[in-house]
Amino acid sequence: MKILGISGSLRKNSYNTAALRAAQELLPQGVTLEIFDLSPIPLYNEDIEPFPVAVQALRECIAAADALLIATPEYNHSISGVLKNALDWASCPPDPPCEDKPVAIFGVSTGRFGTLRAQLHLREICSALEMLVLPKPELFITQAREKFGAHGQLLDRETRERLRALLEALIAWARLHASRK
Ligand code: FNR
Repeated sequence: MKILGISGSLRKNSYNTAALRAAQELLPQGVTLEIFDLSPIPLYNEDIEPFPVAVQALRECIAAADALLIATPEYNHSISGVLKNALDWASCPPDPPCEDKPVAIFGVSTGRFGTLRAQLHLREICSALEMLVLPKPELFITQAREKFGAHGQLLDRETRERLRALLEALIAWARLHASRK
């Protein structure tokens, strides 16, 4: 099973990207998690044809994945422009690769709400893209500075276990939908 990880933050020391790297350490056997770097994705413009190389790569990686794992930061109570922009590119015809794709969402913030508001928006956006959004467990990682080390290691044991549980639920969710095809 192949999971594609997408972080909504381009920051080198991003906690969301660090959380995806932590998820790579928590996978069961036989499951891989590749993290897609959104840095080369240009701003969406409907006039641009054909798809730029980086956009085509994103679309192909989504199409080839059995499931997506999106780590979203919260910017001004919503998701980042970077993430929305990438999802807009991914939503375009022909053959939008997000349709019927199992996806789990979570996020990390430095504040007390752990991206709660951003995740509510992201759920709606993923539904608009006809993705299969994992209903539960939800994972809101709050106060990131207390949970990650100086080099981005996820140190907090309880958070690691919650992330592991989210991965297990996503894998079961993807298998359930694969068996129905
Ligand atoms: C933030 N941050 C933030 N946090 C939050 O909990 N709610 C919010 O609405 C916002 N708004 C916001 C706007 C902008 C423009 C920035 C740059 C930051 C703080 C945010 O949680 C923090 O910067 C995280 O560290 C961002 O995630 P990464 O980059 O570490 O993955």
